[in-house]
Amino acid sequence: MAAGGSALRWHEERIAAAVAPLLPGFAAEVVAEVDSTNTELMRRARAGRTEPVLLVAERQTAGRGRLGRPWQSAQQPDDDVAPSLTFSLGLPLAPADWSGLSLAVGVSLAENLDPTGAARVGLKWPNDLWVDERKLVGILIETALPHAGGAAPAPRYVVIGIGVNIGAREAEGMRTPPAWMRQWRPDATSPAVLAELIPPLVRDVLAFGARGFAPFAERFAARDVLRGREVVLSDGRAGLCEGVSWTGELQVRTAEGLQAIVSDEVSVRPRGMAL
Ligand code: BTN
Repeated sequence: MAAGGSALRWHEERIAAAVAPLLPGFAAEVVAEVDSTNTELMRRARAGRTEPVLLVAERQTAGRGRLGRPWQSAQQPDDDVAPSLTFSLGLPLAPADWSGLSLAVGVSLAENLDPTGAARVGLKWPNDLWVDERKLVGILIETALPHAGGAAPAPRYVVIGIGVNIGAREAEGMRTPPAWMRQWRPDATSPAVLAELIPPLVRDVLAFGARGFAPFAERFAARDVLRGREVVLSDGRAGLCEGVSWTGELQVRTAEGLQAIVSDEVSVRPRGMAL
């Protein structure tokens, strides 16, 4: 049971036992409430606590999204479902190149939420999982500064925050209307989905740390929802999306030629869709 929390059974021990062989010292922790699981793990990292950990919150009071936006969860549970699954995975990582980490995380989540592709869970570069143009999952990745004088490349503590819509939710205040898992898997619960996602996610993040984005590129392409579509960038440029490069940049053919877009430069939307 979560500290001070609900009757949900979260299987922390099972998750920790599955992950510990991959990531020695790993712990899984569930809390009833926190401001934001990302904020909490970044606070801990700044205080020198950089052990590998999964922090799950049944409720976030100040959940954060990308670009400084808030992340609002669905109404809180009055049953055993927990309609919003919110968690952060924190661990030290030392990839030679950080580009493409959010894409690799997206690949891992999409493949495990929808293994056969039947639910049409797609990847919208750089950070979202979509079902039929609706957002199912948001990803917020943050890194704490490395300790000085360490190995090269210096490991950084990375916090990978993930919000998954499990149960029905309102679109109020959201940029894109939501999708949720129970639309195609009516028995989905947050604890069950969490237990399915975490071991493969840890494996994929460690694989990214060792080999970068390249081994994920074809897997991303298989679910890329922008490739072959006209897109508009937040800086006003528009063009045909030609997919994602081996290093994770979005390739857009504009009037000026092929542009390689990196994720903190601009955001992107299919032509005709409101930002
Ligand atoms: C986005 O789509 O803008 C990213 C949303 C990320 C939300 C998750 S929920 C768990 C973790 N804690 C946060 O405050 N944010 C992330």
